[in-house]
Amino acid sequence: MKKQRVIGMFDSGVGGLTVMKEILEQLLDVRIVYFGDTARVPYGNRTREELIRFGEEIVSFLIGQGAEVIVVACNTSSATALPILRDRFDIPMIGMVEPGARMAVEKSIAGRIGVIATETTVRSKAYSSAVSRSLAKGILPEDAELRRAWQQGEQDISVVKAQGCPLFVPLIEAGLSNSAEARGIAKTYLTPLKEAGVDVLILGCTHYPFLEPALREILGEDVSIVDPALAVVKELKVVLEQMDTQEKEGSSGQAGNSENTGTIKLVAPPSALVLGKGYWLTRYFVSGDPDLFRQVGNTLLQVPIDLVEQVTLGD
Ligand code: DGL
Repeated sequence: MKKQRVIGMFDSGVGGLTVMKEILEQLLDVRIVYFGDTARVPYGNRTREELIRFGEEIVSFLIGQGAEVIVVACNTSSATALPILRDRFDIPMIGMVEPGARMAVEKSIAGRIGVIATETTVRSKAYSSAVSRSLAKGILPEDAELRRAWQQGEQDISVVKAQGCPLFVPLIEAGLSNSAEARGIAKTYLTPLKEAGVDVLILGCTHYPFLEPALREILGEDVSIVDPALAVVKELKVVLEQMDTQEKEGSSGQAGNSENTGTIKLVAPPSALVLGKGYWLTRYFVSGDPDLFRQVGNTLLQVPIDLVEQVTLGD
């Protein structure tokens, strides 16, 4: 029988739930341990040093909870701390930025990519670099005309505008993603991207998919909206397959952790998520208020989050 893997995920708050939802819709046989660092949200204006420290604390915690693979379900941490975390922990880790950039290149038809993200992610220029790396690795647009134009040096494919959106995360964490205020702010943030003529917009923060209806309304139908979570799940599937293969071959490589049994101790009542295709067990931890996380998470995801546990990490 196939081993049920334990996926550790983290974000500054509820944003990572957008990634979790995609994982659970596509992967039936996994368990998730989710950590929302709600006592220290937002991450969007934190320094790189802080984000590395937070990441180290959280990844250690998730490994202690049985995680065999980590999904850094936060663009800000992926853009800044992930390379250091990969060096420090012997566990497979998947971030948001590389998969998101690849997907944007594939979906583009005019080569004009836009990004909305936190200020820290924008400052890091992580998406611009990742788009260049993707092209250098041979990832090309699905659109034949753009592919040809790029290959013949007639058309560039790059991030033409990256917009910091610092007011989005506090609104979403407060459960106000559907408010008139959020829509008004979205209009202001998206105007420069429309003016720049982007044909693809990367949701470069895992909180933003909760705003997708408002963003779509403002952008119209001609701009493709890219949610990196979809590409993250693709990558996660590959990593899980590699782990299974390595285990079968008796390899003691970095994938998989032989000390983990793949099960986590459940407390009653178990926090369960039922999305129509099966039954999964998810365990939620937060550093801040568990009730607020449960309320906002339930409203945003429209699935039952019944138990949220509070833990204190670091200071
Ligand atoms: N959801 C996170 C991201 O993807 C962090 C947002 C924040 O806390 O500012 O960047």
